[in-house]
Amino acid sequence: MGTFNIVVLPGDGIGPEVAAAGVSALKVIGEVYGHTFNFEEKRIGGIAIDTDNNPYPEDTDKACLAADAVLLGAVGGPKWDLGKMRPEQGLLAVRKSMGLFANLRPMEVKASQIHRSPLKREVVEGADMLIVRELTGGLYFGKQTRTEDTAIDECVYTVAEIERVARVAFEAARKRRNKVTSVDKANVIETSRLWRETVMKLHKAEYSDVELEHNLVDSMAMHLVTRPTAFDVIVTENMFGDILSDLASVLPGSIGLLGSASLGTSGKGLYEPIHGSAPDIAGKDLANPIGTLKSVAMLLRFSLNLLTEADALDAAIDAIVEKGVLTKDLGGTASGSQVSAAINDQIRAAATVAA
Ligand code: NAD
Ligand code: IPM
Ligand code: MN
Repeated sequence: MGTFNIVVLPGDGIGPEVAAAGVSALKVIGEVYGHTFNFEEKRIGGIAIDTDNNPYPEDTDKACLAADAVLLGAVGGPKWDLGKMRPEQGLLAVRKSMGLFANLRPMEVKASQIHRSPLKREVVEGADMLIVRELTGGLYFGKQTRTEDTAIDECVYTVAEIERVARVAFEAARKRRNKVTSVDKANVIETSRLWRETVMKLHKAEYSDVELEHNLVDSMAMHLVTRPTAFDVIVTENMFGDILSDLASVLPGSIGLLGSASLGTSGKGLYEPIHGSAPDIAGKDLANPIGTLKSVAMLLRFSLNLLTEADALDAAIDAIVEKGVLTKDLGGTASGSQVSAAINDQIRAAATVAA
């Protein structure tokens, strides 16, 4: 029986729809397992530009830093695309402020999902990987310079930044299938050469029991499609991880299925689906809430140490997917709120059976 303070950042587009599904699942878990979740909703992204002229207002930052965990929907949208201030800056700011350098993006193709994969059964069957994306360095946080005819994005990585995220990957691999694939562009880019060198040194010094391979990011994109079952833990820098995780996300059928946990040195984390604000379907109750609910399961597991509850939520999601209660992105006819309600009912039903 615990009491936990959760900050909710709904954001823009489908963000508020999927965040609401996350909150409702937590409420049900609170009822069923006797926990109290206190929710505090704060502004981030485009909506915060509109209200505060700042994509990451100070009171949002304060609340995030004080919370036990943060749940985020998504930010961005065409309304703010041409402005000088961008919603996405809010997301980068919360990641940096909370020191969340490791972004975990698990992707698994369950047996019941194979027929919805764009890949052939024999290629995709058994695919189960964890992408560990570096989240507070690289191009995203380098100095940006712009004159009328020239733009410069600086890409900086230090040994310490590479080491700490590689450590997360090696530790995760030890609890999985003991293999790490480090992805870089060491044939061209200097930060990638430092990346590879650092990962190799750390491996030799502390993790030689873990199988390690290195892949260049371009061929990695190809391998993810041609032999996705070859990978266990993938570790890579910020931008490569962003791109490769969208690619990997569709292997089970939709980007709407993938959640993520962003972690730092404190136990506190930020949990968000990997998809964006999907302006094309916003406000229509079409958004798949599963990516957010998978994120909530990680929130329970990693920040609140509620392992039974996390497993129960994961199991309820699987059961509802297997039953075929699906949103349109997965070929179904259910609305996002119907999927969310079905998962909540499943959590209650499973707990009644177990009692
Ligand atoms: P997107 O992920 O928002 O959408 C890509 C496609 O996937 C769209 O067709 C969309 O309808 C679909 N999709 C995404 N999530 C879905 C869900 N839950 N259920 C069903 N379908 C879903 O990517 P985009 O269109 O390139 O970006 C739109 C905006 O979102 C941009 O402003 C971008 O910067 C922002 N963005 C934000 C985040 C975030 O907040 N974490 C992540 C990615 C993109
Ligand atoms: C993500 C998004 C963000 C990123 C954008 C919106 C800043 O694409 O979370 O994957 O690139 O990190
Ligand atoms: Mn992305």
